[in-house]
Amino acid sequence: MTLHIYQARLLHYLTESDRTERTTSDHSQTLAVERDITLLPVIEGVQVYPEYIADGALVVDDMIGCIVEYGRSETILSKYANEEGRLAVKVHDYRDKLIMPGFIDTHVHYPQIDMIAAYGEQLLDWLNNYTFVTEANFGDPKVAHDTAQFFLNQLLANGTTSAMVFSTSHPESVNAFFTESHKLNTRMITGNVLMDQNAPDNLCVPTEQGIRDTQNIIDNWHERGRQHVAITPRFAITSTPKQLQMAGELYASYESVYLQTHLAENHDEIAFVKQLYPNHKGYLDVYDDMGLLGRRTTLAHSIHLEISEYERLRDTGTQISHCPTSNLFLGSGLFDLPKTLSYTGVSIATDVGAGTSLSMLTTLSEAYKIQQLQSNQLSAHQGLYQITLGNAQSLLLDNKIGNFMPNKEADFVVIDMGATELLERRMAQTKTLEEQLFVLMMLGDDRVIDQTVIAGVSRYRKSTA
Ligand code: GUN
Ligand code: ZN
Repeated sequence: MTLHIYQARLLHYLTESDRTERTTSDHSQTLAVERDITLLPVIEGVQVYPEYIADGALVVDDMIGCIVEYGRSETILSKYANEEGRLAVKVHDYRDKLIMPGFIDTHVHYPQIDMIAAYGEQLLDWLNNYTFVTEANFGDPKVAHDTAQFFLNQLLANGTTSAMVFSTSHPESVNAFFTESHKLNTRMITGNVLMDQNAPDNLCVPTEQGIRDTQNIIDNWHERGRQHVAITPRFAITSTPKQLQMAGELYASYESVYLQTHLAENHDEIAFVKQLYPNHKGYLDVYDDMGLLGRRTTLAHSIHLEISEYERLRDTGTQISHCPTSNLFLGSGLFDLPKTLSYTGVSIATDVGAGTSLSMLTTLSEAYKIQQLQSNQLSAHQGLYQITLGNAQSLLLDNKIGNFMPNKEADFVVIDMGATELLERRMAQTKTLEEQLFVLMMLGDDRVIDQTVIAGVSRYRKSTA
């Protein structure tokens, strides 16, 4: 048995070209695309459209781990019935549930799961007093494996199927993470954190050694199964100019290796960078000068930027990762989503352990509130698009994941919209799909995740005990 049909309400997002492909291929069914809704222009001006099928079915091949097709349940079921009218595939009846593509988290620190919710500090003190202390433990492979396993299971319990992750400066932390992810067959991105100054000795790695460690990790893990490597200088403060420059050279020598770091999160951080680099035009200019910008680069935060910096992000295609719960928890500032989107691609991320939840739904609800404080909008469709196809586009993974187009990898979540008594009661008052999705975005969290499927294989089921 390799084919599975998941009968459910289906929701995902289509690009213009996905939509053309759907409507020009021979479908006897009518598409339930909500044609009047166009979202904000996202990556490179592409528009996206929600597609909702109330009586849907998703066909998955669990041997190759991919989506075969999707459509209206009646059409799909009749297509797969054998001569006696019986189905030659396994049918999963989730007609009271919503299936969406797996959520994608574009910035999260797995070792920091052990110090999430540490009291009272803003960025630089928080790093010194809590973060660096915890990260120092990850040279021990046992700590790294146990934590990576725990963290990945927590991601699955939150419906997150892919992530761009910070490990620590110890190569052991990266090997542990990739080993555990490879076992689960999750699509993940990480790398050793480059740090050679302004941090405790037990986290600093000599300049060239850190780069050599990254090189080895690329050789061992990049594009092995579903794993990808990101060159990961922590931020301008904890790497010497020489190390940033070497990171830039390494980045330029590859076509598909990613680069991730932090930018302009906090005013004291920005002042420190100015002190370290008095001759540069600003924080972004340091990264620019070192060759760290480009379409495969994701910069977390980027809250406090000058117009010339936004323009440089646009001109280099550099992507921004917005981390709402982290920005609120550390008191870092209010990210202007529409303004940033008008220059470049933005993804949404948890940034645990400064972020306070691994749930991308909780993250969206805080993102909504941050925009409210600035009189900006964030609709449920835009938010749910963002944490699926939008984040996949930002990470250049939308040819593999992000929606239900045939041949994409079958990473998806089964969502129980009435998982709690409050949700059930509130949902009963809704009149439209958009209203339901907004309630899900504001009140949903790990409790609504009924099941998480990775490449066609169920890897998490909510305990019903
Ligand atoms: N800037 C440099 N390192 C970190 C980190 O671990 N978390 C956050 N939020 N910002 C950073
Ligand atoms: Zn971070």
